[in-house]
Amino acid sequence: MGKALDGVRVLDFTHVQSGPTCTQLLAWFGADVIKVERAGSGDITREQLRDIPDADSLYFTMLNHNKRSVTIDTKNPEGKRVLEALIGKCDVLVENFAPGALDRMGFTWERIQELNPRMILASVKGFGPGPYEDCKVYENVAQCVGGAASTTGFDDGPPVVTGAQIGDSGTGLHLALGIVTALYQRQTTGRGQKVLAAMQDGVLNLCRVKLRDQQRLERTGVMKEYPQHPNGAFGEAVPRAGNASGGGQPGWILKCKGWESDQNAYIYFITQAPVWPKICGLIGKEEWVTDPDYATPAARLPRLKEIFAEIERWTTTKTKFEAMAILNQYDIPCGPILSIKEIAEEPSLRKTGTIVEVDHPVRGKYLTVGNPIKLSDSPTEVTRSPLLGEHTDEVMAELGYASEQIAQLRAVGAI
Ligand code: COA
Repeated sequence: MGKALDGVRVLDFTHVQSGPTCTQLLAWFGADVIKVERAGSGDITREQLRDIPDADSLYFTMLNHNKRSVTIDTKNPEGKRVLEALIGKCDVLVENFAPGALDRMGFTWERIQELNPRMILASVKGFGPGPYEDCKVYENVAQCVGGAASTTGFDDGPPVVTGAQIGDSGTGLHLALGIVTALYQRQTTGRGQKVLAAMQDGVLNLCRVKLRDQQRLERTGVMKEYPQHPNGAFGEAVPRAGNASGGGQPGWILKCKGWESDQNAYIYFITQAPVWPKICGLIGKEEWVTDPDYATPAARLPRLKEIFAEIERWTTTKTKFEAMAILNQYDIPCGPILSIKEIAEEPSLRKTGTIVEVDHPVRGKYLTVGNPIKLSDSPTEVTRSPLLGEHTDEVMAELGYASEQIAQLRAVGAI
């Protein structure tokens, strides 16, 4: 079966996590992704957090599947010429260098357009244009400047960053959407364009509901579904909401059987209004169905702590999986806190290709997260990440270089 992005060639200048996430997705959708790396060292993540000496790290292998790797010294004049040939042949150039690095290499947007007017230049940067545009940014910086950290954690504690890589992988996802959209527009305009996904913007996009709440707070001075209500005080900025759902359906994380020794023996419990009578029945509080203090969502808001404490008395008598099985029978929305170990071992995720086992010639078998986006006519087959420079000769030959020329370029350190 063909792939959605068959025929699309991507010149992949990305490194670390944000850019590689994007180009990996494009590769999974069928694009030919040619990753350009520096000879000898390559993407810095090849050697970061290594668990096996001399083998590419899991950090690298899990972000660079289905790509080809070529080594080019982009600061070497001969290397630049190879790069120019590649720019002429590719549809998309993706990069997440520090601001200005591509210009310093001599590949300004103007130069790229001269070489290939159909080229789409896609960049991840920490910030968009403005006072911080020259700053380097990593994941947790993006979480802090994008609104996630100030709204995550508990009210009486410091800001907290989340384990979900919303700054890096999240921005890579945003960039991938920008690229396929630009490819689509190119069909009618015949021209490439620049695509920018700033990490601050990407994180803020994912924190959209918090900007909603900021404005609600400014208008009304109170947010009744936040845990600060009714006993705590609200300040000027939207506060950290602990495990409150943040939506119209109050929720909280509750202990389950075994919580004393298992830090993941918890369940997220949502007191969705239509199933309130069923919840009351389950926890033995039938009187709450008609009691005016508990009967309506509005009446329940100032009593959420008490309500969740009562529900927790029930959940602590069940394991998180027992609780889930029972709650699902009643259509009560809930989510057991799954450890990464439990997720890795979950058979249904293996079946759908969301968790995939991959074989690598140096490190052997390892697990990775496959393509989370499933296309019925463009299935994803995850193949291992390339070794450093594994495809240099192959790509050079495709560009028309003879083997003696390739040897010569290698001798002068251009590739
Ligand atoms: N040949 C020769 N030189 C190369 C090269 C190659 N194949 N590939 C990269 N380089 C050079 C660059 O030209 C740059 O040189 P310069 O600084 O002299 O212009 C140098 O390597 C370093 O690149 P840079 O991107 O600045 O790496 P860094 O380690 O200094 O910074 C980041 C890393 C991630 C902080 C930075 O790239 C960044 O802010 N990126 C944008 C935001 C982002 O994606 N952050 C999240 C990363 S997960």
